[in-house]
Amino acid sequence: MSLAEKSLETLTETEAAAELERLAGEIARHDKLYHEQDAPEISDGDYDLLRRRNNAIEAHFPELIRADSPSRKVGAAPSSGFAKVRHSKPMLSLDNAFDEGDVYSFFASVRNFFRRPEDLARVDDKTIEVMAEPKIDGLSASLRYENGVLMLGATRGDGVVGEDITANLKTLGTIPKKLSGKGWPAVIEIRGEVYLERDGFFALNAQREKDGEPVFANPRNAAAGSLRQLDVSITARRPLRFFAYAWGEASEPFAKTHSETLAHFKEWGFSTNDRSKLCHGIDELLAFYAEIGAVRAELPYDIDGVVYKVNDLGLQERMGFASRAPRWALAHKFPAQQAQTVLTDIIIQVGRQGSLTPVAVLEPITVGGVVVQRATLHNEDEIQRKDVRPGDTVVIQRAGDVIPQVVSVIKERRPTDSAPYVFPDHCPVCGSLAVREEGQVARRCTGGLICDAQAVERLKHFVSRDAFDIEGLGAKHIAAFWEEKLIQKPGDIFRLQASQLDGREGWGPLSASNLIRAIEARRVISLDRFIYSLGITQVGQATAKLLARYYRSFGNWVAEMEQAADPESEAWRALNDIHGIGESMAADLVAFFREPHNRDLVEDLRGVLKEITDYERVAVQAGSPIAGKSVVFTGTLTAMSRSEAKARAEALGANVAGSVSGKTDYLIVGEDAGSKAEKARALGVKTLTEQEWLDLIGS
Ligand code: IVH
Repeated sequence: MSLAEKSLETLTETEAAAELERLAGEIARHDKLYHEQDAPEISDGDYDLLRRRNNAIEAHFPELIRADSPSRKVGAAPSSGFAKVRHSKPMLSLDNAFDEGDVYSFFASVRNFFRRPEDLARVDDKTIEVMAEPKIDGLSASLRYENGVLMLGATRGDGVVGEDITANLKTLGTIPKKLSGKGWPAVIEIRGEVYLERDGFFALNAQREKDGEPVFANPRNAAAGSLRQLDVSITARRPLRFFAYAWGEASEPFAKTHSETLAHFKEWGFSTNDRSKLCHGIDELLAFYAEIGAVRAELPYDIDGVVYKVNDLGLQERMGFASRAPRWALAHKFPAQQAQTVLTDIIIQVGRQGSLTPVAVLEPITVGGVVVQRATLHNEDEIQRKDVRPGDTVVIQRAGDVIPQVVSVIKERRPTDSAPYVFPDHCPVCGSLAVREEGQVARRCTGGLICDAQAVERLKHFVSRDAFDIEGLGAKHIAAFWEEKLIQKPGDIFRLQASQLDGREGWGPLSASNLIRAIEARRVISLDRFIYSLGITQVGQATAKLLARYYRSFGNWVAEMEQAADPESEAWRALNDIHGIGESMAADLVAFFREPHNRDLVEDLRGVLKEITDYERVAVQAGSPIAGKSVVFTGTLTAMSRSEAKARAEALGANVAGSVSGKTDYLIVGEDAGSKAEKARALGVKTLTEQEWLDLIGS
């Protein structure tokens, strides 16, 4: 770029023509680098300067506007970053166990699926085979091979849609570009963990420190940062590795057990973790956990627990999946790591529901390799119970991803002049009274939407990754746009115009139009994301999915939520009947819709969105006869346990409810059924015997 730009007044026509020619070529080159090669050489800001210079000269010399002028081209470019890819099978997460009790419950539920006589004839249910694998702290990736050739590599993303990082993944020596051996299915998606060994992590950070770049907090962040590089040569220089441990789509079955699967992965050219061990029964699992815990520090990579997986793939299939994780696997986490430091201050954060959360400001300390400067103090009572005061030396702990916590105070180290901490009774952000209602742990700001903190926090939640996920619109931008009154409520995001941004600090025509394009892309949103984005108390992602699945369409959901305000209504009963929704959650949903400003917000949003798409089940088998049906089980089943029957019905797209209502499609009646069968008869609900049900679902 020319540094000494000539002022337009002194520019001759010949010079102008030459400069326009140069700019056209240069801008075209940067367009190509940016859009086609994901390898921009200049910042968005500098690129914008080039375009502005071009436009300014053209404004002065309109007769010189070239046929190939950048100002004539409509930028049809995608927003920056990686292309999105939809996983053909969702990439799930794992349920966590934090103590042995959780592992016992898991094992009990596995045994429960083994109750069929033919199973028990085959295996002793106390020594069921379960694979135990170290749980590496990296990031998962999916590799799609077609006819043995690596065609696509993707990040997990939100589990449904990830990012295409094929070129980056191809730079890893532990990822074969072509499968070796034989017996691989024509289409197979290998899944596993990309990670950095500790040595590589330390070396990388040392280099970054030397170069004056910010260091990574832990090997996982470093691995993620290294992998998601638009410049593939950066990824190639980082010592990333890959362990294979699962698969997604497979065009044909290739193994009967997980251990066999891992053996195949090895034959096909992958690294598998050779510390993984096939265990028989819970005692062996717990022994493995203790063993790995003891050698943890000697392993070259960081692990945060052990993963247990039922070995028999047939049984895995029968157990199926809950909303976010398979029922046949469990992550048994290691206990938290602790350290001591000085608590210098207590600050109060105001959440999106107005709750005041105390946060400890700490003298920075490393806990398990991560520098910790803040820790949660939970609430007023906790501060009182532990008698935490500024100036105290405290014990803090970190458990996996969980926010660091203050565990206790070392009273002997307390400064002599310290005084008990007094919790504020006014909101530190808007000054409104902060009250604590009976039975509540949190003190809440009464400012509602006049409280900037609440409004801003809600907006941040609205655009977050699992909600509207608007690329390029992060928490930082939301706070700035809020300050400048450009965005006050969610609907405003969709009324934003590029012209309002262009020229503001940090924004140029390109970045502004990229953001508008990212917003446009979100005018169509799935119902579950929409529900989650509203930030209703207690309604997390899993609940939002449950609701979307049950109510199916936006219109139906809103109508039902409004009707459910009447506790005598069928709508209220149906809401409470959804498996996984308790009464207090139901009450929060109804309370949300009772507030006129919330209804306005939903209406306003509906107006600016193009479509809120009905919930589509990701894994429903094609042609399922019970997809979308509401089914209830009663009595004792003989062919399988109740939990397995439920899992099967859900896997086939049905909603399983706890009690019979007018909306029930089928009641499946086992032995010794009680009042539900009578109620079904009275309501005219179709009842099926266990055999009829098995025939219906074709098993
Ligand atoms: S199995 C459906 N196995 O842990 C199977 N995950 O907390 C899902 N992880 O997203 C994953 N080591 O990134 C599996 N041996 C292992 C693992 C492992 C690490 C990670 C993975 C997953 C996360 C869940």
